[in-house]
Amino acid sequence: MKETIILAIESSCDETAVAIIKNGYEILANIVSTQIDVHQKFGGVVPEVASRKHLEYINIVVQQALDQAALTWQDITHIAVTYGPGLVGALLVGVATAKALAFAAEKPLIAVHHIEGHIYGNFLVNPDLTMPLLCLVVSGGHTNIVKITDHGQYTLLGQTRDDAAGEAYDKVARALGLSYPGGPPIDRLAKEGNGTHIKLPRAWLEEGSFDFSFSGLKSAVLNYLNKSAMKNETVNKADIAAAFQEAVIEVLVTKTIRAAEKENINTILLAGGVAANSGLRTVLKQTAEAKGLTVYYPPLEFCTDNGAMIGAAAHYKALAKDYADLSLNAVPNLPFSKLAVIPNSKI
Ligand code: KG4
Ligand code: ZN
Repeated sequence: MKETIILAIESSCDETAVAIIKNGYEILANIVSTQIDVHQKFGGVVPEVASRKHLEYINIVVQQALDQAALTWQDITHIAVTYGPGLVGALLVGVATAKALAFAAEKPLIAVHHIEGHIYGNFLVNPDLTMPLLCLVVSGGHTNIVKITDHGQYTLLGQTRDDAAGEAYDKVARALGLSYPGGPPIDRLAKEGNGTHIKLPRAWLEEGSFDFSFSGLKSAVLNYLNKSAMKNETVNKADIAAAFQEAVIEVLVTKTIRAAEKENINTILLAGGVAANSGLRTVLKQTAEAKGLTVYYPPLEFCTDNGAMIGAAAHYKALAKDYADLSLNAVPNLPFSKLAVIPNSKI
């Protein structure tokens, strides 16, 4: 195959996103139509509203991407789409659109796992990364440590047992009266606070485990707020944000570096919406570099959901001729085992 020019669709949650990616890294178009303001008044994503908004925007965003790249359907080599995990109604809009386009324009269809897309956000900006790699995927729905030995070859080393890191950010932000999504306002507020004033727990779990747990930390913040309210005490939101963020970062960074050392991997990638966190980026880079490890993370716009990362992942599938057919369906709970080897898993 001489080159790929992939039109990639991402609609798993609240962004209607379409990108056109050449050879896995050249961004010819990247349109993200966000629904955040629509969902903000509800304090979170309302699934029915999300799918209706995707339906309203998807054809417009596809056309905008073609216009931005100044290309026609003839120039496109493949159509790619996120088929899970995510909100079923939201995913269905992307999957149905991708199938219709692939059928009408007679292009091969490529199905991408959302987590794989996040990981490949790194290849968009660093296409020459060499294996093996270790990736910390932290988003609103996932917290995973993944070992990557080749394109499409993953082993899941650790995952959250309850809330995802981004989910904890969103729930704590809501309790503090901050806007949705909660990551950015907590990140900003944490810079003004002092994290040492409030003691919050860290869940290390069993010795040697690379799994995570954030629900205890979230509950500790909620308890602190409830107790303060009962005593009629005013709370310092910036200190709470700082203490919460420090607790999240300490566990994420410590476990990721331990996993890299155990697996003898020198290059660490960060991926997913929480990878946009300024504290996490800085602490992971500093701590890892002090141990001789290298850290890469995508620019902010490729951390949160976007079509470009789906196009980057799809490029390597196109090279392997790993195509889907028109029976492709949205899979809201698409398991990680569809993507990676999970040691000790019976799934
Ligand atoms: O990857 P993403 O856009 O969607 C999912 O696949 O879930 O991630 C969204 C999550 C939200 O929970 C949001 O609060 C979090 O990423 N997030 C952040 C930051 N920016 C977005 N969390 C911490 N710090 C940030 N700066
Ligand atoms: Zn995502």
